[in-house]
Amino acid sequence: TRTYVVTGSASGIGATTAQTLRDRGDRVIGIDLKGAEVEADLSTHDGRIDAAARATELAGGVIDGVIACAGISAPIAKTISINYFGVTELLEALRPALAAAEAPRAAVVSSMASLQPNSKEMVEAALAGDEAKTLEIADAVVAQGPEVGYLVYPSSKRAIARWVRREAVTPEWAGAGIALNAVAPGTVVTPMTEQLLATEEGRAMVDAAVPMPLNSHQPAQSIADVLVWLTDANNTHMAGQVIYCDGGADASLRGDDI
Ligand code: NAI
Repeated sequence: TRTYVVTGSASGIGATTAQTLRDRGDRVIGIDLKGAEVEADLSTHDGRIDAAARATELAGGVIDGVIACAGISAPIAKTISINYFGVTELLEALRPALAAAEAPRAAVVSSMASLQPNSKEMVEAALAGDEAKTLEIADAVVAQGPEVGYLVYPSSKRAIARWVRREAVTPEWAGAGIALNAVAPGTVVTPMTEQLLATEEGRAMVDAAVPMPLNSHQPAQSIADVLVWLTDANNTHMAGQVIYCDGGADASLRGDDI
């Protein structure tokens, strides 16, 4: 059995991923605001460091897999704190425990939204590791109203996808034998999208932005299965990839543009 740390384990994709791992006999240490083995707020520096320390202790110092699902989609500055720094800072803090494992793996959840319009300035500030500056830019974007404020979410998902591609091949990750990858879902049926998908108007808006010719909206299980494979010991050579598991949305929108 392997020991996994799963963030966002109390709901949606994280909960389904945790259950899938437990069903096959693995040990899961969940991190979430509430209803998890480690209750912590990943929007703050202290919350991330504390969560990593407690998860590492519960794991006995060795963690085989980390799967980062926690995130929010609201058009507020905090979204990039959770979706980007709540992933990168936590993963960095858990890296020593991963490096101590025999077949360590990590996977994060980006999104189809990473391909949508975003704030280049916000993405660059995040990648530079400057959370204060990133929040300043995000606050300014949000202050311009909802038509501009929505940019925070795609920016957070673009930044995390690029972070994965940069970090995955460094001595700290690939060099330490840790496979690091991302999954980019289309529209997943979870509490995050419940309200949006409840009205015809909301569904039409979502489907125009994220066309899913293969089987339409996806269950959380479709993402959990990819996350579980990416963090399995069998994944010996996939690194730095952003896997679009999205009903064909990426191929529909980007086509030949790769
Ligand atoms: P969800 O809302 O069902 O679950 C998210 C979980 O993250 C919740 O349990 C929540 O408490 C936790 N969380 C939020 N803020 C936190 C914080 N500050 N500290 C600790 N935990 C926190 O959402 P869902 O749909 O399962 O989303 C999971 C991930 O998948 C997110 O990163 C989301 O952006 C991403 N995603 C979701 C899509 C969808 O259509 N549902 C599409 C593409 C990506």
